[in-house]
Parts: sequence; C-alpha cells; structure tokens
Amino acid sequence: MKASAPGKIILFGEHAVVYGRPALAVPVTQVRADVDVEVSARPGIWIEAPDVQLSAELKSLPGPNPLAALVHNLLLALGIDPYPNLTIRISSTIPVASGLGSGAAVSVALIRALASTLQRPLSDEQVSACAYEIEKMHHGTPSGIDNTVVTYARPVYFVKGRPIEMLHVREPFTIVIGHTGVAAPTRESVADVRQLWQNDPATWDVVFDGIQALVRMAREAIETGMWRHLGPLMNENHALLQRLTVSSPELDRLILAARQAGALGAKLSGGGRGGNMIALAPESGPRAIADALTAAGSPRIIITTVESSPAA
Ligand code: MEV
Repeated sequence: MKASAPGKIILFGEHAVVYGRPALAVPVTQVRADVDVEVSARPGIWIEAPDVQLSAELKSLPGPNPLAALVHNLLLALGIDPYPNLTIRISSTIPVASGLGSGAAVSVALIRALASTLQRPLSDEQVSACAYEIEKMHHGTPSGIDNTVVTYARPVYFVKGRPIEMLHVREPFTIVIGHTGVAAPTRESVADVRQLWQNDPATWDVVFDGIQALVRMAREAIETGMWRHLGPLMNENHALLQRLTVSSPELDRLILAARQAGALGAKLSGGGRGGNMIALAPESGPRAIADALTAAGSPRIIITTVESSPAA
C-alpha cells in the first residue's frame, strides 16, 4: 500500500516552540515523501531508498536507526508477531536537513503505508504520536510541530503538549521558499539554543516571549485576512532568531535579497544555520523575489500559496 506526506514550513515561532510558546506552520505540498509497502516473498523487512543509496534488511542497519526503530515500534504497538516479510520503498523530493520536515514526512508516510498494508488503519492522532517518537531520535528535544503539521496537512497553531488547533486562513497568501544550499541538522541548532537558555534563562525567556507575541499577532493577521501585516512580523521574528544565533551569513544574504526585491518580509524557517528562508510575496507576485534569490545563489526555490481554509 502507498502513502504520501507533504513537507512543511514554519511561518513563525521556531525554537521558542520547544519552550512552550506557540508557533504557526503550514504544509508545503510541492514536495512530498512517498512510501510503498508490499508483503513480499523475500525473507525479512527490506528498506529500499534509492535517493540515499540505501537497500538493506532492517536488522543489518547500524543502530540506532530511526527507520528501523519506527518499523519495530509500530509492529510492536500493532501486536504483529511474528514479523511479516516486507519490502518498504521510500522516495522523497523534500531536501534533507533543510527545515522542510523531511524526517517527519518520511515517518508519517511510512506509518500510514505500513498500517494500511497490515490492515490496521490508525487515526491522525496515533500517526502523529508515533512519528513524534521518531522525531525525538532525529532532533533530541523536538516540540512535535513537524509531525503534527505533516500528519494533518493543514495550517496549524501549535503549542507543545496541547490539542492541535487548525488555523483559519481568511485570504490566501504566497510564500517564496529559498534554500541556502547548506544542510543544517535541526538537532544541532536546537541543542545550541538549549545551551544558551540553560546558561541564562531570564534573558532567553524574554526573547521567547517576544516571539510568542509575534506569533499571536501573526495568527490574528492570517485569521482576519490582513496577511500583508505578516511582512513586518516576519522581519521582527528573524531579528529575534538572529539573537538566538540560529541565522547564518547565507540565510541573511538571501533574506536581504528577498526584501530588496520587494518581499513584504522575510525570515529563516525551521532550525536555521542553513536550510531554508521564507519571504512573503506582495500582490504583484513572487517572480521578482524568486529571481533575486536565484541571483543571490539559492540553488532551489519553491513558491507556495497558503490557501484559504476554515478553522476546523
Ligand atoms: C524545526 O522545524 C522547528 C524547531 O522549532 C524545532 C522543533 O520545534 O522541534 C527548530
């Protein structure tokens, strides 16, 4: 059985969300992870992921391996014993270590494909919870926002440990996503922010509170159709992320190029230090921003429109 899951971007609130503040994230359907699971005659559980030159039986993977852990956890949770012979084919167009949720998307697609092949369909809540366990292996102390937005594939207002709230998007708006060309594992930037915070919680809690205020204003702007107001809020969120030391010269260069080309605002998105930045396109469209990002050296640009959606 096949299953697919989209990528994601965080519009506002990354890093602070790990510390209980809210964040806004939306799916990016232009990029996807696809998983096909088949019961096969070949003994064992085989993972075929040609994009990363992987073709191996699960037990032979050097551990701890997130894919192996995911399959074991799920088979255990579903009470499947003995293990069936399976071939799991994974492909993804989501760049890894880029802030676009590639790990979460592979997990979600794999969980759904495996559960439906074994005829044990899971609720979205169960899928997201299972993917969260694997996010912990990828990221150390994740907030859970990536697995949530990727599972539900809807714009979300997310607070760690609270029931998910869907975001009401009153009017569509367009975001240009520019890759820096630098792969940057989220685990590292999240660990560095934790170090800062542990050394001086009072200072960094003020920064997280500042980000929280921006997230709340951004939610209001999205829900009332005042999306143009998101631009300055993005710029302010980026300034706070710079203070958290998670920007980089490559991110700052692309963000400046986007603003100079008419973006209403721009910021890094996700873990930072590399990966992707996002820019809000004006009514005249995203083209000038995309061209400026290419000229500034971005190797990969995605243009995505956040469509109107009801709250529930
Ligand atoms: C990663 O997409 C977003 C971070 O806030 C980490 C997390 O929430 O787990 C940097």
